[in-house]
Amino acid sequence: MSSGSFSKVAVIGSGISGAVCASILAAGGVSVTVFETGRGAGGRMSQRRETTEDGRVLFFDHGAPYFSVSDKEVMGVVRSWEARGLVSEWQVPFGSFDQSTGKYVDFDKDETTKKYVGVPGMNSICKALCSDPGVEAKYGITVGKVDWLCDRNLWSLISLDGQDLGQFDGVVASDKNVVSARFTGVTGRPPPLDITSSPDLAILSQDIPVRSCFALMLAFSEPLSSIPLKGVSFKNSQLLSWAYCDSSKPGRSHASSNCECWVLHSTAEYAQGVIARTGLKKLSSDALSKVAEELLHEFEATGINIPHPFFMKAHRWGSAFPAIAIGGDGKCLWDKNKRLAICGDFCASPNVEGFKMGLKLQSLRNFDAFPRAEQHLLQKTRSGAVVSIIGLIIMATLFVHELKYYLTTYTVHQMSVDVKRGETLPIHINMTFPSLPCEVLSVDAIDMSGKHEVDLHTNIWKLRLTREGHITGTEYLSDLVEKEHSAHKHGDSNDHHEDPNKNKNEHGLGSDAETMIKNVKNAMENGEGCQVFGVLDVQRVAGNFHVSVHGLNIFVAQQIFDGAKNVNVSHVIHDLSFGPKYPGIHNPLDGTTRILHDTSGTFKYYIKIVPTEYRDLSHRVMPTNQFSVTEYFVPIRAIDRSWPAVYFLYDLSPIIVTIKEERRSFLHFITRLCAVLGGTFALTGMLDRWMYRIIEAFTKSKTGSILR
Ligand SMILES: *[C@@H]1O[C@H](CO)[C@@H](O)[C@H](O)[C@H]1NC(C)=O
Ligand SMILES: *[C@@H]1O[C@H](CO)[C@@H](O)[C@H](O)[C@H]1NC(C)=O
Repeated sequence: MSSGSFSKVAVIGSGISGAVCASILAAGGVSVTVFETGRGAGGRMSQRRETTEDGRVLFFDHGAPYFSVSDKEVMGVVRSWEARGLVSEWQVPFGSFDQSTGKYVDFDKDETTKKYVGVPGMNSICKALCSDPGVEAKYGITVGKVDWLCDRNLWSLISLDGQDLGQFDGVVASDKNVVSARFTGVTGRPPPLDITSSPDLAILSQDIPVRSCFALMLAFSEPLSSIPLKGVSFKNSQLLSWAYCDSSKPGRSHASSNCECWVLHSTAEYAQGVIARTGLKKLSSDALSKVAEELLHEFEATGINIPHPFFMKAHRWGSAFPAIAIGGDGKCLWDKNKRLAICGDFCASPNVEGFKMGLKLQSLRNFDAFPRAEQHLLQKTRSGAVVSIIGLIIMATLFVHELKYYLTTYTVHQMSVDVKRGETLPIHINMTFPSLPCEVLSVDAIDMSGKHEVDLHTNIWKLRLTREGHITGTEYLSDLVEKEHSAHKHGDSNDHHEDPNKNKNEHGLGSDAETMIKNVKNAMENGEGCQVFGVLDVQRVAGNFHVSVHGLNIFVAQQIFDGAKNVNVSHVIHDLSFGPKYPGIHNPLDGTTRILHDTSGTFKYYIKIVPTEYRDLSHRVMPTNQFSVTEYFVPIRAIDRSWPAVYFLYDLSPIIVTIKEERRSFLHFITRLCAVLGGTFALTGMLDRWMYRIIEAFTKSKTGSILR
């Protein structure tokens, strides 16, 4: 069970493709097992260790002699290998030999392409990659059967000798023999992998044509000084295609040990001819020595003085170089459902750079179906789900927040000098005098010129209130009270009337006045109050308005109140403003309650009005005013002749404030949204990976202790 919960991948073949592939997968956190038929890593990039009869140890790069790089992506990887000391450039003279004319031609023709070799052997790269952390390499094991376990969604690998090699989430076949009929030719068994069930890989069912090659390893006791080149390609030769001086490669320790090693490669035609005679089965040593003799003879036939080698051995490369490229534009063959990849140079161009296919595996991870992603989606459901849900919640929260932020408007304040002229200033009043009946109250306005605002259109109402505050009657003030406006009262009807000219001058306290005094006293005993509200339009100059009993004839007032100190000007201001309200305005006097408890007096509110313009989103302009206020109370003194009142003294600021409502930019909102969502997404991914790693490490250590 524990092994099933890991992401395991089997890589078949430790050649350059397999090794690069294994290394990349391991770097991505996958546990990789490499199966290699040979005794060491390398495939065709391998090095052969040979011991002569007299006990000398020789090394040959009997496979690929070198590799060159034209692809930029691959070059980056090769540079990193160079930095790790795994590869080195091989700078020796190369050329061609024309067998028909017996002359060397094309000296150094190829000097522009850099040739790289592994250090100290060609196999060093594969060896190093196969021992990367996370890669386990098993040598000397031939995979004999690769089965897809449908019910468990896993691959099962069995070796050629029937050993169970374990079960894996994915398989990378970098050795084409896994699917090739050649496997049968070599081992007498069907190929390990049956690809007829994978339609994506059906292209492989047509056998891959390959070219074979023989390699001849030669060791001379002295350098071949008669050959000016260290790498020779043969033209017009039936047998030989290439000869390389292995000892001239950088980092070959045996180069100093008094001998020179060469490797010759036969032509494909020659190898085919031999294989046609002998079949694909392992060659007998006789047959091999015959090949060796023939190749050496051809080499000697170059006409130059070649001493007899003290060591000579031939090796058959059954599938050295594929003849054609399949698999399209350098793609791996890839069965996504079963997580099976078939990679290698045989998928691409027939050269050593085919290992680029290994690099291409990197992109496989992006398919998100390869083991790591698969693990997240299929196996780590609990931790993954928790992280995902948290991520989604965070995203939703941030989204709502951003949306709210975008939808709310904000205001911009600007100031300038007020250049408006000739407009009036509307004063909205709504206040209650709980201890004064409407009959005695009057509203008066005076501007700076001292002029009473008698001409202005006013709209002030007075409501009679009972002790409990219920409205019992309405009175309308058509005109501001001044001078001898004694009493205009029609308080007993709910209707309002234009004040008729019924009132008379009351110098002599006529019968009207008597009744009025009686009524007021009555009302005061009942605890009647009065609510004053309405709009006053005044000139836009400094001035004041006040609510008082000044409208009463002084004698009448004396009779009613029996002295100024008994005029209870306690009041509640419900609303005092100088124009329409805009969102966010604060009128500082709203809700002000002033109750007198002992002596009476005069209230004075000093008001500074700030002209204000409010522009909303649709650019409608609302002219209005804000104000600030300070207040002052003067208690009445015995010697004072004035009567208590409530004064509002106002002044206008020359500065106008423009408040603009604005909306946040939609693009800005989108940008923030992208940042928020993308950031959360990335963070969640990171968390998920960490969690996966931690859980993996935890489980690993647990199974480890069980095994011990
Ligand atoms: C005056 O203020 C009172 C108390 O807030 C309120 O009920 C009444 O509607 C206001 N009157 C007007 C005309 O705004
Ligand atoms: C003035 O009137 C208010 C409200 O009716 C009352 O609470 C207060 O006691 C009165 N003040 C005096 C001095 O009578």
